[in-house]
Amino acid sequence: MTLKEKIFEAAEAVRTAKYAVGFTGAGISVESGIQPFRGESGLWNDHDPIFVEIEYFSKKPLQSWKKIKEVFYDKFDEAKPNLAHEVMAKMEKRGFLESIITQNIDNLHQKAGSKHVYELHGTSRTLSCTECSSEFDMAFADLNFLPPTCFVCKGILKPDIVFFNEPLPHFPLKRAKEETQKADVLLIIGTNAEVYPANEIPIKAKENNCLIIEINVQKSEFTDTITDIYLEGKATEIMAAIGKHLYLTD
Ligand code: APR
Repeated sequence: MTLKEKIFEAAEAVRTAKYAVGFTGAGISVESGIQPFRGESGLWNDHDPIFVEIEYFSKKPLQSWKKIKEVFYDKFDEAKPNLAHEVMAKMEKRGFLESIITQNIDNLHQKAGSKHVYELHGTSRTLSCTECSSEFDMAFADLNFLPPTCFVCKGILKPDIVFFNEPLPHFPLKRAKEETQKADVLLIIGTNAEVYPANEIPIKAKENNCLIIEINVQKSEFTDTITDIYLEGKATEIMAAIGKHLYLTD
């Protein structure tokens, strides 16, 4: 089958699905200017991930925060949702997509208008105090003074993103499992599928006979194992074509 025919097949599967769910990784945000973690332009080629290891953060919060600001927050401030995020939000609005399970912390799905987004790796929107657990919206933090401290007890604030060696947040993980229990179509966009336990979610969906559609610029750990329809290409280009089939893009 040609890519065009596979895109048509995927769009029809979404259109006729009883319960379609999205599953996204860093690749969907690359065309918004946010670096992926792996691959030739991957973040982990340029930076040692130690700064997002919870042990390192507890010992050296200032050094960790300096990197977190440089690598995440400074980039997220300028980033805007791209066409792939926008088509997914329109799919939800039109009832073609029930929810999105994302590994991303960049908030671009929400900025695009998606409402039911479950963030397996946490969020960059809020911070929590390491002493008294008070939670604050990022808007209140001034990252020109690092590390940010708690407005209640002066303890050090930690971003609510999941650090390496930290457990995934209970509620998003619970909802992700519930969503993929119900899904008969899972639309996977831009993940290498390397990171556990997030990568278990699509595998469980497949075990429940869910049709797996995957969009990526190159094969991932899923492509030759669980993927039923592999659409090779950039997220914006493939999603523009799918959106066209569903009469979503203007
Ligand atoms: N369109 C679609 N896919 C793309 C694009 C694009 N324009 N650009 C890159 N990709 C694909 C890459 O081929 C790769 O498979 O996106 C994927 C990005 O992989 P990673 O950088 O490993 O991102 P992800 O799978 O989300 O990583 C999971 O790892 O470091 C942790 O917590 C971090 O959430 C992250 C997790």
